[in-house]
Amino acid sequence: MVRIFDPITLRGGTIKNRARVSPMCQYMSTGKDGIPDDWHLTRLCGFANGGFGLILTESTAISPEGRITPQDTGIWNNRQADAWARITADVQERGSAIGIQLGHAGRKGSSWSPLTGNHGSVPVHTDGWPTLGPSPVPFSDTYATPAQMTTADLDKVVEDFRRAAERSVAAGFDVVEIHAAHGYLLHQFLPPLSNRRGDEYGGTLENRAALLLRTVGAVRAAVPHTPLFVRVSATDWAEGGLTSEDVGRVAAKLGCLGVDLVDVSTGGNTPSPTIPTGPGYQVPAAVAGHEASGIPVSAVGMITEPEQAEAVLTDHGITAVMLGRAALDNPHWPLLAARRLADGRLTGDFVQRTVLSRRLTGAATSHCACLSRGASAPRQATFTRQGAASGVCSALPRTRVAGAFPQCAGRSPRTGCTWASVQCGVRGGPGWSWVVPCSESLGMRVPPGRAQPGTRGSAGTRRRRH
Ligand SMILES: Cc1cc2nc3c(=O)[nH]c(=O)nc-3n(C[C@H](O)[C@H](O)[C@H](O)COP(=O)(O)O)c2cc1C
Repeated sequence: MVRIFDPITLRGGTIKNRARVSPMCQYMSTGKDGIPDDWHLTRLCGFANGGFGLILTESTAISPEGRITPQDTGIWNNRQADAWARITADVQERGSAIGIQLGHAGRKGSSWSPLTGNHGSVPVHTDGWPTLGPSPVPFSDTYATPAQMTTADLDKVVEDFRRAAERSVAAGFDVVEIHAAHGYLLHQFLPPLSNRRGDEYGGTLENRAALLLRTVGAVRAAVPHTPLFVRVSATDWAEGGLTSEDVGRVAAKLGCLGVDLVDVSTGGNTPSPTIPTGPGYQVPAAVAGHEASGIPVSAVGMITEPEQAEAVLTDHGITAVMLGRAALDNPHWPLLAARRLADGRLTGDFVQRTVLSRRLTGAATSHCACLSRGASAPRQATFTRQGAASGVCSALPRTRVAGAFPQCAGRSPRTGCTWASVQCGVRGGPGWSWVVPCSESLGMRVPPGRAQPGTRGSAGTRRRRH
């Protein structure tokens, strides 16, 4: 049985827990050159500070014409890759893994960013471009009709994905995810709704899946040591659209090609489907995909509560949960989960939780997230890895946070990992201490006898007994 703070090892790399940030477009590459900037850096690092095991970037274009909007990020050139390298290093320094979602928008490309308030296609005579698709079928009335892709166009797409994957790994990404969901190019080929071709890329499901399978094969061969995920839409929620049986068959083929996980979502290939949304509404599709193909899957879609997320893993055989809007609402969601899923002795007080975002023995710095009562957001103090360290918790300036790593090291009976004790105290006394596991990072417990009893606190704190 898998739990949310269980690590997972994929192709030799370990991701510290099963809480992941789902890809989310930002439309914030304001130079319209596909280069991620400080917006992307701070946003993605924020999730890492919050303790997510794996953070996926937004859909990142493999070519200029593959962008959804002019403001999308890309990885079709080395300037973009260099900008991503800064971000991957910073996220990893905080102990999270980072994956890139590679996408081509096909007939949904050249769209207005939702931030502009416009809908549909950006005209070619402004910032837009002519779009490509499996067939000359527009996404909706407000979208331009794409040109039917030629064989040369298809070859270019496969090659662009391959090269983008190579650049991604060179830029330090831990995971590559191919976006074949939400009505973008690789998805557009799958259902007859958007694919009316009469050649070897149309007709049977096998033919319609050919572009996806070719792409996956090329990427797998190019980056054999990197975990490879594919995001699929398990249903189009539409008559004549994809069904979960179709997607189960495709997922099985993806498994044969060496895909490590299928990230199961739904929809996106029709403009206004009726979707029965609700908490965990896409989990059954993920379960069906897993059962049909045997491949590990992640689930996404209105998974918001820690207990709910844990149950998705423990009760449904799902490998990881992806959080979208819940992660936007609370980039420190894993801290919430740690508290809610812990044994109850950690609830309540002044400095409540710590995230050691890397193994203490391997990290240059470790981050102590402090949540004071009444503060709206966790603040951080940074401890150096070795020896005494101290800082001031910015949530309560009168509060001194001190720690020494490693201290009182012990063994977790459950995981066998080393524990370290962190002392945080109010000025003038030790006051507070707790222990954190080095590698699990969030499954905090305070073993009896190891913690020090609370001493007199200053304003804003109170005596605490472990
Ligand atoms: C602002 C925003 C941008 C999104 N961009 C992407 C994207 O780039 N790629 C993708 O596969 N899904 C994208 N999604 C979908 C999310 O990854 C996720 O599947 C969806 O929001 C459902 O999960 P949630 O209920 O946890 O938000 C986006 C969602 C939001 C809210």
